[in-house]
Amino acid sequence: MAKHIGILTSGGDCPGLNAAIRGVCKAGIGNFDMQFLGFKNGFNGLCHDRHVKIDGDMLSGILTDGGTILGTSRDKPHRMPIGGKMRDMTDAIVDTYERNHLDVLLCLGGGGTQKNALHLKKAGLNVATLPKTIDNDVAETDITFGYDTALNTATEAIDKVHSTATSHSRVIVVEIMGHRAGWLALESGLAGGADVILLPEIPYDPESVAESIRNRGKAGKHFSIIAVAEGAMTKEQSVTINQLVAEKEAADSKKKKEAISQELTAFHRDHVNHTQDLTRTLEKLTGCESRLTILGHIQRGGTPSPTDRALATKLGAICAQYLADGGNGDMLAVKGSEIVPVPLEKVAGNKKLVPLDHPLIKAARLVGTGFGDC
Ligand code: F6P
Repeated sequence: MAKHIGILTSGGDCPGLNAAIRGVCKAGIGNFDMQFLGFKNGFNGLCHDRHVKIDGDMLSGILTDGGTILGTSRDKPHRMPIGGKMRDMTDAIVDTYERNHLDVLLCLGGGGTQKNALHLKKAGLNVATLPKTIDNDVAETDITFGYDTALNTATEAIDKVHSTATSHSRVIVVEIMGHRAGWLALESGLAGGADVILLPEIPYDPESVAESIRNRGKAGKHFSIIAVAEGAMTKEQSVTINQLVAEKEAADSKKKKEAISQELTAFHRDHVNHTQDLTRTLEKLTGCESRLTILGHIQRGGTPSPTDRALATKLGAICAQYLADGGNGDMLAVKGSEIVPVPLEKVAGNKKLVPLDHPLIKAARLVGTGFGDC
């Protein structure tokens, strides 16, 4: 009997989603007698039962397309915007699953999606996931698709600002995506020869960044490129955040925890402009004209790189085999050259941050790149 697989893409989009959809559906339809229902706009489409039957025509020509043919959203099953209110729609999702006689629901997404998938697993659904995000911060996998393309985009941008920074003898601060994890800023900064790299994992002192710029000036280099992850923080900000996190953990009531969560959310919301502040501060501290370039969503767009197309296809196709063998409850992770199932319980709620002794950090320090921490 044919297996019925529901498939959706959730969270921020990234290059390679279409390649993964194509990989799993082509392999499943062609080899394992599977039928795929694509749910629109992530968990929202699952809640409202908005779906399309995926056939060969839909899969044709999408390997090289960015974005996702299914659409995406950041909606969560247990906090869905309905009629102006946030409602727990888990039961509606279970109904959709049963109404369509699904055998498994496959969710393509980043950290948030892994948590949502685990929530649905606990609600009794057969769920599996594939790891995607340009941030490369999903736990338990070496790499996520989308990252390589974004790395190419960010590196090319850093390469390009070099000539204008040199011509004008300016400091150019380049803001790179990566809210809690600095993989993209670190690797593109290293590849693009940034002079200072600022990561969420390494709190910085603006004076130390200024010192690196001044030292370059003394050495006859009158321009500097500062690659900053959007979630990078000063040492002071990091103390505030760590205190709030500790207070939240120690809080003895749900009300207190909720209040601290709101403070944390407000902090992160207000932190959005920090690269603007940093740019002004560096101009003041160094006397060197400074400009800010925010790469933004350009990093999530465009055609996937060959590496991402191949990775997403491999994950998708091997996932079809896994589902055909009766697998569920796992994220399919990349470990070396292998694709292995990892239980969602081990993935959800964890983040893969840059370890402070990572070889990329060591290498950057050895070639004189600053991290604003000394
Ligand atoms: O998908 C990951 C990511 O691109 C992060 O790097 C960034 O912080 C966030 O999404 C931006 O989200 P949105 O597109 O919802 O503004």
